[in-house]
Amino acid sequence: MFPPGPPGLPLLGHFKTMMRPDLLKSFMEIHAKFGAVFSVNLGPRKRAVVIGSVDALKEAADKIVGRSPNMNWMNVDYRNGNGKDARGITYSTGKEWEEQRQFLHMRLSLKELVLGDTSLEQVIMNEAFELRSDLEKREGEDVEIGGEFTLTAVNVVWRLLAGKRFELDDKALNELVSNVRKKVSRFNYKGDYFLYPWLRHVAPGPLGFNVVKVAETGMKSLVEKAVSKHLSDRARTTRKSDIVTKDLIDAFINKTTDASETKMESSLQGELGMQSMNAVCLDMLSATIEKMSLTLAWTFLAMAKYTEAQKSVREELDAVLVGRRAVTLNDKVRLHRLRATILEVQRFACINAITMERRCPEDEDVKVGSFVIPRGTDVYFNYYAAQRDAFERPDDFDPSRFLVKGKFRSDSRADLIYGLGRRDCPGKAIAADFLFLAIGTLLQHFEVSPAADSLSMEAAEFGLLREPRPFKVSYQRR
Ligand code: HEM
Repeated sequence: MFPPGPPGLPLLGHFKTMMRPDLLKSFMEIHAKFGAVFSVNLGPRKRAVVIGSVDALKEAADKIVGRSPNMNWMNVDYRNGNGKDARGITYSTGKEWEEQRQFLHMRLSLKELVLGDTSLEQVIMNEAFELRSDLEKREGEDVEIGGEFTLTAVNVVWRLLAGKRFELDDKALNELVSNVRKKVSRFNYKGDYFLYPWLRHVAPGPLGFNVVKVAETGMKSLVEKAVSKHLSDRARTTRKSDIVTKDLIDAFINKTTDASETKMESSLQGELGMQSMNAVCLDMLSATIEKMSLTLAWTFLAMAKYTEAQKSVREELDAVLVGRRAVTLNDKVRLHRLRATILEVQRFACINAITMERRCPEDEDVKVGSFVIPRGTDVYFNYYAAQRDAFERPDDFDPSRFLVKGKFRSDSRADLIYGLGRRDCPGKAIAADFLFLAIGTLLQHFEVSPAADSLSMEAAEFGLLREPRPFKVSYQRR
């Protein structure tokens, strides 16, 4: 049986969904009426399917891993695509996607090698220390939380990618973060952007395409500069054996010129390899800016709003880190409340409420529960609906739901935070280590309080990710 859903008008699709900017609200309403797996017309294309229960998502996750060609305009404009294909990971599909993901995965699991003489833990700890010093200068000020702290996360990923860090007050980088944040608020997975992308040539300003352009070209040019610098440094090195692999860009370049593989047709080789490398760097940079900045913003909102929860984390930090020694990854086994609190923030925030649409295989229908989703159908994963149904009292902020007798208890329902199946988040280990060390360090040294009387945990209108509404906090050094 094909999943049920509301009727759609010819060309326009489901009128209410298409007219309303907030796609998540519409999906939640249809979910309430038609159930966890439904179909909906989004404009002049085949009915899309939306999946919103943990069991159905787990069943579908490995079967539905393609990408829709609706997004190929993004590839043409920013990722060296030719209109029919895509470079990198986030937008690509098929063999190229598998090769790029596998290479990245392999290099990230060898991250100590990619990082040369330091470890990722050390890089994150140094960045957390820099952030602490930066915040000390702003003690007592009311700070509007937007892209604050994002450069700290960018520095960790940029160190992995390009071997460098930025100063936290780097003007150009802070502007880039703010432009990417604007894109996240304006962008969405329907209408203008994915259904009528030609409109970007007609009215780019009013329809928001310029916001996307500014963010994407800013990130693209940062990546291109780093790659050219690597290439010129290597060109100056006379003996090949003297070339040191100090970061991921080096590892990618080595692969593009690996003589043992030049006969194999691979997206990691030659010119295509160079193009894909640029796109993978862009994928990693944009994921970091977009997702880390929002996770940190939700964390500080929750900590300022739920001061008792904040106090319990701090008491634990003080008890475990005697003499205010620095948090390390080994402390994961002792800092149960910190881990439960971070996971609860991520569950509550559910920033990836709806993922970028996936596409069913072109040669096979997909069975999910009692439903059959025809080959070539676009599918949205509604992680938000699934999480809300899976947890009791979903609107309560309650870290103790991840604690049993005071000990942290992981929960497979929370796996949705980083996505499911073969298309899950390849940066999840980096993100998790970063959040643990950075949030631990900040709460150890600062008390966060609301700058205004009331803080709202309600999300802003949904664009690309689930964002908090603008808010201010202030910090007091302890
Ligand atoms: C708190 C931070 C983060 C969260 C919550 C998060 C979550 C996610 C989710 C839910 C997906 C989509 C999975 C799906 O379609 O089911 C995803 C994809 C992705 N993430 Fe992350 N992510 C985070 C940080 C990062 C970081 C730091 C990186 C890179 C270093 C990264 C790289 C990517 C990439 C490249 C994809 C696309 C994967 C593909 O299409 O195969 N993410 N992430």
